[in-house]
Amino acid sequence: MRSESPAVHAVASAHSATAPAPAPADESRAARKDEHVDLALLQRGDAAAHNEFDDLDFVHQALDGVDAERVDLGVRIAFRSGEQHAAGEWRWETPFYVNGMTGGTERTTRINRELAIAARETGLPMACGSVSVALDDADAARGFGVIRQENPDGFVMANLGVGRPASDAPRAVELLGANALQVHVNAVQETAMPEGSRDFSSWLSSVERLSAASPVPVIVKEVGFGLSRSALRRLADIGVGIADVAGRGGTDFLKIENARRVAGEYAMLTGFGQSALASLLDAPADAPTLLASGGVRTPFDVVKALAAGAQAVGVAGSFLAAIGHDGEPGGAERLIALVEDWKLRTRALYALLGAATRDELLRTDLIIRGRLREFCADRGVNLRGLALRSEAGRA
Ligand SMILES: Cc1cc2nc3c(=O)[nH]c(=O)nc-3n(C[C@H](O)[C@H](O)[C@H](O)COP(=O)(O)O)c2cc1C
Repeated sequence: MRSESPAVHAVASAHSATAPAPAPADESRAARKDEHVDLALLQRGDAAAHNEFDDLDFVHQALDGVDAERVDLGVRIAFRSGEQHAAGEWRWETPFYVNGMTGGTERTTRINRELAIAARETGLPMACGSVSVALDDADAARGFGVIRQENPDGFVMANLGVGRPASDAPRAVELLGANALQVHVNAVQETAMPEGSRDFSSWLSSVERLSAASPVPVIVKEVGFGLSRSALRRLADIGVGIADVAGRGGTDFLKIENARRVAGEYAMLTGFGQSALASLLDAPADAPTLLASGGVRTPFDVVKALAAGAQAVGVAGSFLAAIGHDGEPGGAERLIALVEDWKLRTRALYALLGAATRDELLRTDLIIRGRLREFCADRGVNLRGLALRSEAGRA
């Protein structure tokens, strides 16, 4: 069992010691956004520690490298047709994107502005946090609209929680002029959240309704606990074209919600869920197009997720840390420098691994170790096949 960092405890007890009278729903939802940012940043030390990306090794091929100049970092995200949109694909210039985080308060508006400037300058696709708080509140709406203002031509994803009325889907998309809609499923977070939901029984039909009502393709995502083989099949069965497995090992919403409780009552669930790599390796052949996120700390983690089957990789906590907790000016410059460095190093890693494109990463040989190996073995993942991928198709 991992121990809680003293800093997180300090926030938790400060919170409970001064617990104010319950705020109106919108105000307390907004306050939660600021608290999530503080608590996510307090975890950064833990997030850099070992996670299951360290359980995947590439077999080094000393003579198979390619010229980094020839590497194409671009990726194609294909999607099936839905009720309202035809099948198609997006082309992104980089294989990683800014994942959904925040918006709706003064402070998170500043953070979104810095993230959006960085996304514009680096060409990264960007998602925002859940916009539900903004659908009934014009002030909160400005905290999301800023993303489109700063980045009029970029690829932007709106975000809604499952369970919202279907009519919220077009409103969320309109608010940002969004190219896609993320719908997050977060049962573990809700379980630990003091004010969380306890009824998950209609979530699949809610996803179906939100997808049908969305004027743009829907990406169903977790928030850090992974999507299993069965979950991915269910999503494919109802016509969801894209899923972000958002696995365990990075920003930990169980820990965040426990820190918002008096006694961290759900710490007993520590370690619950699957990592991004476990979800990718466990995925069925007929899964939706896969994106991955959760615990991505470096370009090497990006490349590992791509090699394990992701079409592109989402990064939240690591990019938030570069921006800083207040969204003060200067955050965008720091993130731009970080992203440009990640692009360079991702290119270098492709060259080292002998891959000129993301698809060629699927020919690398993967050795799986530790807890990830146990999971894969029990789930019947073909470990030998992964270790010998470069030989498939050779005489
Ligand atoms: C401060 C913060 C707020 C977040 N809020 C949302 C949200 O509103 N909706 C959502 O789908 N995911 C949200 N996430 C989850 C991320 O999109 C991502 O799935 C998760 O953090 C794992 O990625 P990471 O380890 O790179 O942080 C949030 C993450 C952070 C750090």
